[in-house]
Amino acid sequence: MANACILSPMKIGNLQIDKPLILAPMENVTDAPFRAIMRRLGADMVFTEFTSCEALIRDIEKADKKVTILDEERPIGIQIFGSNPDSMARAAQKIEQFKPDFIDINAGCWSRSHVSRGECAALLKDLPNFEKIVREVVKAVSVPVTVKTRLGWDKESIVILDAASMLEQAGAQALTVHCRTRNQGYKGKADWAWLEAIRKKISIPLIGNGDVKTPKDAKALFDLGCDGVMVGRQAVADPWIFQEIKEFINLGKILPHRSWEEKVKICMEHLLLSVKYKGDVYGIITFRKHYAGYLHGLPYAAKLRNDLMQMKNIEDIKKALESFSDKLHHKGIDL
Ligand SMILES: Cc1cc2nc3c(=O)[nH]c(=O)nc-3n(C[C@H](O)[C@H](O)[C@H](O)COP(=O)(O)O)c2cc1C
Repeated sequence: MANACILSPMKIGNLQIDKPLILAPMENVTDAPFRAIMRRLGADMVFTEFTSCEALIRDIEKADKKVTILDEERPIGIQIFGSNPDSMARAAQKIEQFKPDFIDINAGCWSRSHVSRGECAALLKDLPNFEKIVREVVKAVSVPVTVKTRLGWDKESIVILDAASMLEQAGAQALTVHCRTRNQGYKGKADWAWLEAIRKKISIPLIGNGDVKTPKDAKALFDLGCDGVMVGRQAVADPWIFQEIKEFINLGKILPHRSWEEKVKICMEHLLLSVKYKGDVYGIITFRKHYAGYLHGLPYAAKLRNDLMQMKNIEDIKKALESFSDKLHHKGIDL
């Protein structure tokens, strides 16, 4: 199935996007409010965080909430994980009712609690079961099925080239590769060199992932033959990363940073969406991880951030952001 031809635009089922920039699935981070904001700020496609197939087929409320999507997030893939092909197929059938654009199978999470049950990255040690899961899920649903995985279990057992061909044969319609092994967790550097070899092995779209922190990094992955580039942690650190990548790729330059007015405005919009979606208490608490990204680099922001991290009331937070804005106006800050 060797095929060096690069699909442009990237196609997954009816979806067609030219050089898509994709928000990575991140547990407890990429909830619906964040995904919606990232779509507004330039992500072309998003994924839900992974959800247990066993929890889904048992109708656990928390699992159902994780796979509930807002129209403004589309196009979106719902990601599921598990080790039992039948449970995975049943969960996939259930989530079809949420009308995702595609269903993604997680074969990358490295955490001991999951791999000890044969789930997630443990599938890289059991390619026959990995294949069975993909085949059963593909058979069970009418939406496209995709896979996100790593290079292998450890550096002595890198199986991605065999796995990529197997996944394509099994019916996966796109493959995302986080270019680390399971044993690396998040340590070391993602080894992008594998992407070129994977590209030559398969004809389905290839999405490169791991350590994309700058527009130049993203371009490097496209240059290696990726059809799409996925960004995770940097989207939290810099919510404008997708726009910056697009400007760099389309205009050949990195534009000056966003104004402080825009940063404060989007921070507030995201927070209000979080509160609307999850209620005051939970909406505010789960939002705290985002203050640093929105306020990064702004003068006087360190104290504001510390104060915001303690606040539990939306009116207090609004006042704090307003008085911060007044202060920057008075000081004539022009960033
Ligand atoms: C907090 C956190 C949660 C994550 N949760 C998931 C997940 O639910 N599903 C998944 O496939 N990958 C998950 N990942 C991995 C990311 O999708 C991505 O592969 C990894 O962070 C490397 O990309 P990056 O360097 O751009 O962050 C998670 C990563 C982080 C940091």
